[in-house]
Amino acid sequence: MTASPRHTRPKTEANLVNGYYARPAILALAGDVAGRRILDAGCGSGPLFAALRDRGAIVTGFDSSTGMLELARRRLGADADLHVADLDSPLPFPDGAFDDVMARPWCCTTWRTGRRRWPSCGAC
Ligand SMILES: C[S@@+](CC[C@H](N)C(=O)[O-])C[C@H]1O[C@@H](n2cnc3c(N)ncnc32)[C@H](O)[C@@H]1O
Repeated sequence: MTASPRHTRPKTEANLVNGYYARPAILALAGDVAGRRILDAGCGSGPLFAALRDRGAIVTGFDSSTGMLELARRRLGADADLHVADLDSPLPFPDGAFDDVMARPWCCTTWRTGRRRWPSCGAC
């Protein structure tokens, strides 16, 4: 039996931080997204992308990790607009392409850079 990747495990996606704090807060802040063109920066395996799309947004996602994008592709389907890109470099989108940008790519990355890890996140 092959273990499922950590990011696709329900426990990680629905844990205290992701399922009950961060994602609901982001979605509440976003408000009515129907018809809005939204860039999901650091989309990971695509849970936020999926939630936004379910609410009628036109979503584009990017991530620096091809592995994460593979998981996102599995979740979101072949027609999902997904790209490999890094926030540290110019992004491959024209000016004015999006109405909103959602970005939550930094939690563990930032903490790791500072040699600490947010213990309860578990997403990265
Ligand atoms: C916590 S996950 C966020 C997943 C999703 N945005 C969500 O809210 O559920 C963080 C993601 O950010 C990505 N990431 C970190 N640094 C990045 C960078 N500089 N450019 C692009 N993606 C980055 C990681 O590869 C990881 O998939």
